[in-house]
Amino acid sequence: MPDLLQQINPDKLPVHIAVIMDGNGRWAKTKGKPRVFGHRNGVIAVREVTEAAAELGVKYLTLYAFSTENWSRPAIEVNALMSLLVDTVKKELATLNKNNIRLRAIGDLQQLPDKTHKALLEGIEQTKDNDRMTLILALNYSSRWEIVEATRAIAAKVRDSQIALEDIDVNLFSAHLATRDFPDPELMIRTSGEYRISNYLLWQAAYAELYFTDVLWPDFRKEHFYRAILDFQSRERRFGKTSEQLAHAI
Ligand code: IPE
Ligand code: IPE
Ligand code: MG
Repeated sequence: MPDLLQQINPDKLPVHIAVIMDGNGRWAKTKGKPRVFGHRNGVIAVREVTEAAAELGVKYLTLYAFSTENWSRPAIEVNALMSLLVDTVKKELATLNKNNIRLRAIGDLQQLPDKTHKALLEGIEQTKDNDRMTLILALNYSSRWEIVEATRAIAAKVRDSQIALEDIDVNLFSAHLATRDFPDPELMIRTSGEYRISNYLLWQAAYAELYFTDVLWPDFRKEHFYRAILDFQSRERRFGKTSEQLAHAI
């Protein structure tokens, strides 16, 4: 593992990494345990990845913790996830502060249970001055929700003559998304061998490098995170240009 770490080029780190933490349920099933057991162990992976990202110097880490669609799961699982979120935010607060990490959240937070919402806002408030890394939890988040919300906010401004129709461009649209304070993710990781985006950062990931691994989230460790970054660093990001153009760019 120290080998892997040494291979990482600190000058080519993704500034923002987004993760779809998937496979908790299947992990628990292989152990003959209820799904919630998988979620609880997923917290260990969250801790590892947060620590690894901060140590490396990654500035933004966004973790998909609960999608808008996840409300359709059995109530017992949804409730357990909401309690786990409260407990985890409360428990990790001291560590976040010790490590100078700022907590933020994206998603329709108003619709979360009161306790979860409160714990989250408190965590955000108590870490707001930290500036080593920003840890963003996507909670009750879905990209389509976010895009519709942005559209509505922009339309209202046009209606109220605060902006003109001609003012609407990519930058203005980005500035109305939940992620307005953060740069776009450059690397998106999904665990558990599923090859889809599941309504996550659709707009923001326009040019993200996608990395998929079969590792189930509760088994995900620093070593796996380093591998994803190394893979990212081996890619040529062309942004529509040709390879030759990039080679000759000054
Ligand atoms: C990811 O693991 C965690 C959440 C979606 C909250 P899953 O719970 O989706 O686990 P699998 O995909 O069913 O194994
Ligand atoms: C995506 O995982 C959401 C989170 C990781 C929170 P899901 O397990 O809900 O995604 P699908 O349903 O398999 O696409
Ligand atoms: Mg899943």
